[in-house]
Amino acid sequence: MPSPLQRQKSAQYTEGISHAQLHRRTRLFAQLRADDVDRGDTMLSIREYRASDERRWLMCRLLSFFDTEYYDDVKIRKTSFANDHVELIAENNKGIVGILDVEIDGDAATIDSIAVHPDAQRQGIASKLLHEVLWRLPESVTSLDAWTRGTESANAWYTSAGFTENQRYLHVYQDEGSGDHGFETPAGLSRPVTAFMHAPIELEDTLRGRYSRIHVCRQYLLEIPPRTDDGPTS
Ligand SMILES: CC(C)(COP(=O)(O)OP(=O)(O)OC[C@H]1O[C@@H](n2cnc3c(N)ncnc32)[C@H](O)[C@@H]1OP(=O)(O)O)[C@@H](O)C(=O)NCCC(=O)NCCS
Repeated sequence: MPSPLQRQKSAQYTEGISHAQLHRRTRLFAQLRADDVDRGDTMLSIREYRASDERRWLMCRLLSFFDTEYYDDVKIRKTSFANDHVELIAENNKGIVGILDVEIDGDAATIDSIAVHPDAQRQGIASKLLHEVLWRLPESVTSLDAWTRGTESANAWYTSAGFTENQRYLHVYQDEGSGDHGFETPAGLSRPVTAFMHAPIELEDTLRGRYSRIHVCRQYLLEIPPRTDDGPTS
């Protein structure tokens, strides 16, 4: 959960938007609402995360990750951020159906979590969350990146949203089946039962001969062009 200081920073940043930005945001919200009416009983709203959302946020993430290469990346507390951040929720009449957290570090921002409930996928929810977060990022942010493994839906989504792949590296899991050759542990501890490691992509073929669980982790990058602020139209 974000600290009170982080919450205060986030609120300051949200309140710090200009009149012209607020006007454009209002038009965007109006457009999103119009789109959602077309979806009948799944009326969607996109809003900021609240502390009371935590359990439903965790459930949405857990269920959406179930069929992905992140199936065992289970969180029991929501991520909190040291830097400025944007935390969005997509909610319909069935509850929280989408989550998007972005952390900001200078002119770069990173997607920490994006997930849509399995029953609500392919309805444009992740795209709307992205649209909204791009709107809310400070103008000083010029790039948004994300890291993901090989799951087809995630890679297809990043590509369809305009991200391009920038680099790859490996996530390597050691387990009992892969043996413990080369591992050392402090005195008194057993050999590792499991281990999770990073490795350069160049070692993929060699490591696949030894470890049965290896994921290729990709960095996706979206350059954010400067905004053309057309200001209020009325
Ligand atoms: C990736 C994810 C967030 C996409 O959410 P979504 O709301 O279903 O995505 P959208 O409806 O906005 O999809 C927009 C476009 O992305 C592409 N896309 C999304 N899911 C896809 C899939 N399963 N297969 C192929 N293309 C897909 C399509 O081009 C789609 O447009 P279309 O439906 O008109 O063809 C969702 O699949 C998810 O939660 N996956 C599990 C969690 C995860 O992998 N998170 C990201 C990595 S950490």
